[in-house]
Amino acid sequence: MNVEHVSLDMIAESAQFVGQQLTTRPRVGLVLGSGLNALAEAVEAEVILYYSDIPHFPNLTVAGHVGQLIAGQLEGQAVLVMQGRAHYYEGYSLARVTLPIRVMQMLGIESLVITNAAGGLNPAFQPGDVMLIRDHINVPGMAGLHPLWGPNLAQFGPRFPDMSRAYDPELRRLAREVAIAAKIPFHEGVYVFLGGPSFETPAEIRLLRIVGADAVGMSTAPEVTVARHGGTRVLGISGIANVALSEGVGETTHEEVLEAGRLLVPRLETIVRGVLQKL
Ligand code: HPA
Repeated sequence: MNVEHVSLDMIAESAQFVGQQLTTRPRVGLVLGSGLNALAEAVEAEVILYYSDIPHFPNLTVAGHVGQLIAGQLEGQAVLVMQGRAHYYEGYSLARVTLPIRVMQMLGIESLVITNAAGGLNPAFQPGDVMLIRDHINVPGMAGLHPLWGPNLAQFGPRFPDMSRAYDPELRRLAREVAIAAKIPFHEGVYVFLGGPSFETPAEIRLLRIVGADAVGMSTAPEVTVARHGGTRVLGISGIANVALSEGVGETTHEEVLEAGRLLVPRLETIVRGVLQKL
């Protein structure tokens, strides 16, 4: 299953199913991470589809993830919102995990705003903080466990896509402006993607800090890689849900990740709305 490919036909079938129910062409895709589902309530929804009804979409198995695709308007922009996402650790191939990104690309999005809940590695980070993602480290990807593994889908992009500016500097500048104007405390930093589902050991946390990672999570890098392969501009935002504990004091739980989301949702909503206004 985790070596399964996704064909152009599968993407097209899925995109056709979604596309025939849309009234406007979406310009911006929005992916809502763990505990951030409530952000979807900001959207004036026109069409709501369950992932389980969309051909080839991965279903979600984790608490805190709804699994709906919402087409609608936010700040006057036509948006396509993924309320919840599938993760590699659920047993899907990375090609399947990222199929919804392909579908959004086929439906015409130009930009992707991607959010996640992450563990803070940078000692300056507190739960509830916002981190604008400057860059990522794709640990499984570096060893070939990669969403673009297999035949290249040349209709979307090149065999060897550039990743030197994966997170769009201009979109990040807009997000920074909005956060400053709204007095939302934020950081900028490097997100490291691990396969999960176990949280990190103290030794792993030390390793990740040494290599320059500021926040750790179990998503985003594969989706961003696929987005960039297809030429989609990306704004990535991590909500710091917990601080990764180097001393092994205390525990990281899924519940605290969801709890921090309640603090993060209004902050992320302000940033996303502000960026959409400026697009
Ligand atoms: N580690 C990995 N993924 C996470 C964490 C964490 O501490 N918090 C939220 N997602």
